Amino acid sequence: MIDPVIKWSGSKRSQADALVELFPEFETYYEPFLGGGSVLYAVLEKRKPDFAVASDICKPLIDLWRLIQQDPETLVRAYTKDWERLQSQGHTIFYEIRDRFNENQNPEDLFFLSRTCVNGLIRFNSNGEFNNSLHYTRRGIQPSRIEKIIKDWSKVIKKVEFIHGDYKEILKMATSSDFAYLDPPYFNTRGRYYGKIDYEEFVSALHDLNNKGVHYVLSYDGMRGDIVYPTKLPEEVYERHLLLKSGNSSFKKVMDKMNQSVFESVYLDF
Ligand SMILES: C[S@@+](CC[C@H](N)C(=O)[O-])C[C@H]1O[C@@H](n2cnc3c(N)ncnc32)[C@H](O)[C@@H]1O
Repeated sequence: MIDPVIKWSGSKRSQADALVELFPEFETYYEPFLGGGSVLYAVLEKRKPDFAVASDICKPLIDLWRLIQQDPETLVRAYTKDWERLQSQGHTIFYEIRDRFNENQNPEDLFFLSRTCVNGLIRFNSNGEFNNSLHYTRRGIQPSRIEKIIKDWSKVIKKVEFIHGDYKEILKMATSSDFAYLDPPYFNTRGRYYGKIDYEEFVSALHDLNNKGVHYVLSYDGMRGDIVYPTKLPEEVYERHLLLKSGNSSFKKVMDKMNQSVFESVYLDF
């Protein structure tokens, strides 16, 4: 498993390989809830698609993906400079860069914050301001280590088209020979991820995909035992519902009502 270049809440890193095993043949790959791109990476490595469209509603995140893709040297240089200032001048540097990011949404700053904040968690308040604090006991990944990770990813994502936008607009571009992997934020969790989405609109977008004949795999754990979700997915929008046991590498059919909190749940429309 490759090291993540962007650490993101709700990453599907541990399931990425098992997810890609489920994907059908396709022409263009769409991933409209991109986040840290763990599934994108697995698709690029295993399927080598000619076309991939990766998008997210979070603009500085997409700017950061483009920077990793097109100008990794600049990102490494910026990180190295700020990391060295953090080592020599201490915590004020982190907060200076956090203020600067919240003013101009610069992708280099977002990257620095993500690599030096508590547990590496990119977290925004409802105004879209980065609000995690400095991880006092670790002082961020060494520039030489992150350089290698950035450059490895940069090569792999060379042909991807990164777009800033709402998933509904992006999915309008997909046609019947295309495929989409969908990993929306939890519908009832406010502020945990960037943006929140409307359940009815989401179901309507799934209907549109069905009508166009676009296949999808959807990560949606609306059945998780410890959290109450507003609604189960309507049966007419999907064909199969599979569960992946944590730490396991393949999905199984839903067989009974066993304690599902330890399972990752996916819906497929084929
Ligand atoms: C669960 S995370 C995706 C995690 C990703 N699969 C990974 O492995 O890192 C959900 C993503 O959806 C994005 N998002 C939220 N609302 C959106 C919208 N309306 N359109 C597109 N993306 C949206 C968030 O910014 C977040 O990156």
